[in-house]
Amino acid sequence: MTYVVVENCIKCKYMDCVEVCPVDCFYEGENMLVIHPDECIDCGVCEPECPAEAIKPDTEPNLDSWLKINADYAKSWPNITTKHEPPADGKEFDGKPGKFEAYFSPKPGEGD
Ligand code: SF4
Ligand code: F3S
Repeated sequence: MTYVVVENCIKCKYMDCVEVCPVDCFYEGENMLVIHPDECIDCGVCEPECPAEAIKPDTEPNLDSWLKINADYAKSWPNITTKHEPPADGKEFDGKPGKFEAYFSPKPGEGD
């Protein structure tokens, strides 16, 4: 089991999650973060920290595509363990539908 970052992280990217992870298993893309499924120890402390409710346990249904995105991009995006300045317009994107199609970016973020 692992926890998974899902669509509502895109363009919100609040980064509260990285501050609480005991094993530093978040990785940063241009517009969102992902969790490395082989490093996550399923402690669950990040889930309630996300203001966008964008972190789910993989026991929830219909998360297969997001689990794959987390696993794939955790291999190439840089590790992030400290919160940076979140996007100034993040709140405008909170809860918007269709963010994956409109805004997902495979580009890496800056990392720590
Ligand atoms: Fe890190 Fe725990 Fe969240 Fe996994 S569930 S990403 S180990 S804080
Ligand atoms: Fe994304 Fe939530 Fe973390 S919006 S960056 S998963 S705090």
